[in-house]
Amino acid sequence: MEVKAVREQPKNIMDFMQVADFENVVLCQDQASGLRAVIAVHDTTLGPAAGGCRYWTYASYEDATIDAMRLARGMTYKYAAAGVNLGGGKCVVMADPARPKSEAMLRALGRYIDRLGGAYMTGEDVGTTLEDMVNLRLETPYVITLPEDWGGAGAISEMTAIGVLEAMKSSVEHALGKRSLQGLTVNVQGVGAVGGPLCSLLLDEGARVRVADIRAESLAPWRDRPGVEVVPVEEIPYLEGDVFAPCALGGVVTSENVGRLRTKIICGSANNQLWDASLETNLQERGILYAPDFIVNAGGAVFDADRLQPGGFRRARAEAKVREIGRTTREVFALAEQEKVGTFRAAELFAERRIASVGAAKGIRSRFRGEI
Ligand code: PHE
Repeated sequence: MEVKAVREQPKNIMDFMQVADFENVVLCQDQASGLRAVIAVHDTTLGPAAGGCRYWTYASYEDATIDAMRLARGMTYKYAAAGVNLGGGKCVVMADPARPKSEAMLRALGRYIDRLGGAYMTGEDVGTTLEDMVNLRLETPYVITLPEDWGGAGAISEMTAIGVLEAMKSSVEHALGKRSLQGLTVNVQGVGAVGGPLCSLLLDEGARVRVADIRAESLAPWRDRPGVEVVPVEEIPYLEGDVFAPCALGGVVTSENVGRLRTKIICGSANNQLWDASLETNLQERGILYAPDFIVNAGGAVFDADRLQPGGFRRARAEAKVREIGRTTREVFALAEQEKVGTFRAAELFAERRIASVGAAKGIRSRFRGEI
């Protein structure tokens, strides 16, 4: 049943809940502070659900809920494939990211997260910062991403960028037979918290970079950098080059635009890059190697989860685990060839098999059977 959930867009919230077997979807509202939020807990077989808190504008409550659910499900797979003992969850706050956030609203959300009793731990995501996490932490201990002086791992987005770089090297080796990124062209969509540091790493590797962003202030540091070309946002996905790196929001590859993609590889940090997973067949037909998003972008999640280890956070151990993303990416490509499935389905299988085996060992009958 779970296969259907990712092959097609869900019809409605309850349909999605049942087909993809979500545990909880919680709507949160607080008039005094203006809070409107959704918390989705997908699966807790491996451990309590964790995942970032997205702060963004949505057209409707339904859109926000479906987004929270898709992102939560992605976290289940991200942690499972990366070998972390956490389940998948996500929180979405419906608000304008351009306006100042209110402490009252964040604290109201913190109280609602607290009420879930640890089933869900929150963290940073698009539109939220470590300072926001501190405000949530005032109301609940269930915050995973925190500044170092609050007991957390500190900034994590650069670690996500390091994971993307490792995955990109593996993808380039697999698709182009090259051992380095020297002289390759990478088209980066979004130069925010992850895309920005990724560009710096790519330049260090000798790659040429094209960048686009909807925010002029994010582009400013890149305008006069040697090796960097700033291009319009509407063009970036369709430019020729070796790698397209989506590092902004999801839903980048759709049935309408898949025919226009021109790079040999897609490898970036955005969550849910495929509008629906059936699109990976179209990518395969076009000879484009898709490095599965939840494998590629696990760096921040993996780094930050290290603090849950006995004895607390160890930077060197956390970084080493982030760099394992290169190897996991190669294993997923090998599994795809072995099982004759697309790379995205192979990544799902990789994650599902771990959940199934750990779940069985814990005596939890899991829906994830790890079958094709
Ligand atoms: N939001 C990021 C992600 O989706 C990082 C993160 C992971 C933050 C887990 C908190 C918890 O991977």
